[in-house]
Amino acid sequence: MLVRCMTSAALAVTACTFASTPDPESDAVPVVVRGQVVDFQTGAAVAATDLTISGLAPLPMVDRQGASFTLTDVAPNAAFSILAVAVGHRSTLSQVAVTTDDVSGITLPVVSDSFVTSLASAFGVAPSQDKGIVLLHLLDATGKPRAGVAAVDFTIAGTAGPHFLDAGMMPAAAATSSSSSGWVVFFDVPAGLTGLSQGVSVATTIDMPALPVAAGVVTVADGKVSDGAPVLPSHVLFGAQIVPIFSARGCVACHSANGAGKQQGNLTLNGGGNPVYRELVTERPGIRVNLAMPEKSLVLTMPSREVPPDGHPTVVFTGPRDPDYLKLLVWIREGAVQN
Ligand code: HEC
Repeated sequence: MLVRCMTSAALAVTACTFASTPDPESDAVPVVVRGQVVDFQTGAAVAATDLTISGLAPLPMVDRQGASFTLTDVAPNAAFSILAVAVGHRSTLSQVAVTTDDVSGITLPVVSDSFVTSLASAFGVAPSQDKGIVLLHLLDATGKPRAGVAAVDFTIAGTAGPHFLDAGMMPAAAATSSSSSGWVVFFDVPAGLTGLSQGVSVATTIDMPALPVAAGVVTVADGKVSDGAPVLPSHVLFGAQIVPIFSARGCVACHSANGAGKQQGNLTLNGGGNPVYRELVTERPGIRVNLAMPEKSLVLTMPSREVPPDGHPTVVFTGPRDPDYLKLLVWIREGAVQN
């Protein structure tokens, strides 16, 4: 079966492409991606009833035969998502990245309804229909599952997780750190793009790309774990990762209502994403957020230590390795968009 026009109700995406020949202007040679849809828990092949690609233009050709699939005309160096649909399973979204070579043997997991039910009851949650589930695979630098990552080190805003799977992929309700399987579960993840939140004094830093989450869908992704000092984050999200910094780090106490920061600095940092974005980016263009010289942005310099000190009453960011400082810096370097 060949598909050129794909719609996903779950992701509210419709995308069509009619270009059948590669752009003659570019010398990019399209790649072929082959793989199989498998059950997340057992690894057994599962016949897919639909595969939907998103995040890639033009869309590749999808050829699906039972559990096997072949994508042709995939743009080289592309990263995209595939939503796999199969009977008795939750629609499951995986992230795929290709270089300039053809790839085969990719496995797209689908999570069975019964496994989701057993996890939910073991973890004592009643998953909401209008939120998603994230299954995160913690891996070390060599790509091996990473045990011992503490629950206190990371979370996804708006969820109660993380919950952990044991070495045999079964729920470990009492676990407070990852097992040798490296698998982590978050229930009730708000729909939209999501990212991990990590505190200041974490023992491990997890690099996870921004993930699309949809109602009733399971999103599967890898998180690269490194010890100690934070690695530079990427794909920083304003709503999920920047806005929460201002309450978590105590900025809101002064930058709201009658607080000194609002009264003297004329800066309000509460009220949600839209007003905060307006205050930071639009209100004083190039000052609070400086796209040309990100390190000179007042949102970074005011709460940091300087010699000589500026007029800001507190030093909140311990230095340029502070994880929240780095998130803000990268968000500005990435264009300070309201994502
Ligand atoms: C103890 C109260 C307090 C806290 C906590 C605080 N601020 Fe401030 N902030 C102020 C005051 C007072 C000013 C005005 C200083 C001045 O005019 O020199 C200010 C000014 C600023 C400005 C400059 C605004 C402008 O456009 O001129 C920025 C940006 C800022 N703060 C960001 C932050 C951030 C981000 C945090 C948290 C990481 C934070 N502040 C925490 C009190 C505070």
